[in-house]
Amino acid sequence: MYLGIDLGTSAVKTVLVDDAQCVIASESRPLATASPFPGYHEQAPAQWIDATFATLDALKASHGKELAAVEGIGLSGQMHGATLLDASGKPLRPCILWNDGRSAAECRVLERRWPALRAVTGNKAMPGFTAPKLLWIATHEPEIFAAVGLVLLPKAYLRLVLSGEAIEDVSDASGSLWLDAARRDWSDAALAATGLSRDHMPRLVEGCAPATTLRSELAQRWGMARPPVIAGGAGDNPAGAVGIGAIRPGTAFISLGTSGALLAPTNRIAANPDRVVHTFCHAIPAMWIQAGAILSAASCLAWAARLFGVAETELLAPLGSRPQAPSPVSFLPYLAGERTPHDDPAVRGMLDGLSHGTDRGTIVQAVLEGVAFALADCRDALADAGIAIAEADVIGGGSRSRFWLAVLANVLNVPVHRFAGGETGAAFGAARLGRLAVTREAIGDVCTRPQRIETFEPDAALVDAYAERLPAWRELYRPRH
Ligand code: XUL
Repeated sequence: MYLGIDLGTSAVKTVLVDDAQCVIASESRPLATASPFPGYHEQAPAQWIDATFATLDALKASHGKELAAVEGIGLSGQMHGATLLDASGKPLRPCILWNDGRSAAECRVLERRWPALRAVTGNKAMPGFTAPKLLWIATHEPEIFAAVGLVLLPKAYLRLVLSGEAIEDVSDASGSLWLDAARRDWSDAALAATGLSRDHMPRLVEGCAPATTLRSELAQRWGMARPPVIAGGAGDNPAGAVGIGAIRPGTAFISLGTSGALLAPTNRIAANPDRVVHTFCHAIPAMWIQAGAILSAASCLAWAARLFGVAETELLAPLGSRPQAPSPVSFLPYLAGERTPHDDPAVRGMLDGLSHGTDRGTIVQAVLEGVAFALADCRDALADAGIAIAEADVIGGGSRSRFWLAVLANVLNVPVHRFAGGETGAAFGAARLGRLAVTREAIGDVCTRPQRIETFEPDAALVDAYAERLPAWRELYRPRH
């Protein structure tokens, strides 16, 4: 029996997976994000711990026998967040999240100070990443910077609480801008450019390697006879890749979570930082992931649901299962700024083309299409790095909408596939990493591709209609930085 814990942005999701790789139970607890100033996004680390423990306590109540049999735990987490701890391991301030835009000026400083940054990390310095956040702290909260003993990404903080050890996996670490992506090790030059050293960093392991074990008092709390092994785990995007068996070149997929991404596993680095392609180490050895990442995906639908005061399912139901034609309204999904391809934390969303005839459905369709157009920008940035996408699997909460998947197939002009349980992708992938850390089985035997339940094929007329709209949609973007 294995546990996958995904410390997401909107919730902690925990899945209990049996030896036949069936999810036998799952629990989720919501997380709140504070925005103390426009463009700032923070979460208190204590909230992650309370939410995680609540999911495990609930699993103990509903599936006590199965939980007691857990041998391996995998962690997945929202990437890039800066969790700053003092020398005793206590958080010094709320974590600054992946979608926080405050450190744009510091990105420019960082690239000037360390000109090799793009070549070594495979990434452009962007405010979402961890390193510029530390420069921001050094300037704006110098007393906190001086007290920093350890910098952890969100799931490494969770692991510290679960195990007592500070350990990070290379996939999540590659989103920090402190990792040498080719060597899969911390870069001393990168750390020095932010006034830090390896002493401030956790130990590194591969995602599927055993990292540590659960504290014995926690194992007792959850009724486990022997403390389970905790694997390296992965950032949520690489964990999602493991969950759907995207472990080889040619297995591109789309993640429609709070954020969105078009991700392509590769067996070599094919970086394109100038077009804001992200370079991540994969959660399995000797593989990488090149990704176009957008800051708002399913969160755009959540925004629309709040705006109209109805549940997302109610918002989607009248649209049916496929579009007849593009919406006459256009939507820019930049509700929290954008990374690929603009790297513009200050840009914001837009609805264009409203008329007296615009109804709720027209706007909702435009919202889904806007996200799909943003993913078309990601596709083009990846193509520029030599990565062509022939088809795409879809994971994340947004994959529940058949209409959205049909839009994606037509905007991207590739077949798009849906799975049963695709919305728990990252937690399931984490559980697979937990299993690999215990059994040391062949990776390909465990990370199989789950059964597709539906494929959305592009329809020539709609493909043409969307292709015609894309240039006008792109024209709507006006840089704000
Ligand atoms: C990836 C990214 C997000 C976060 C939150 O670069 O910032 O996907 O991992 O999900």
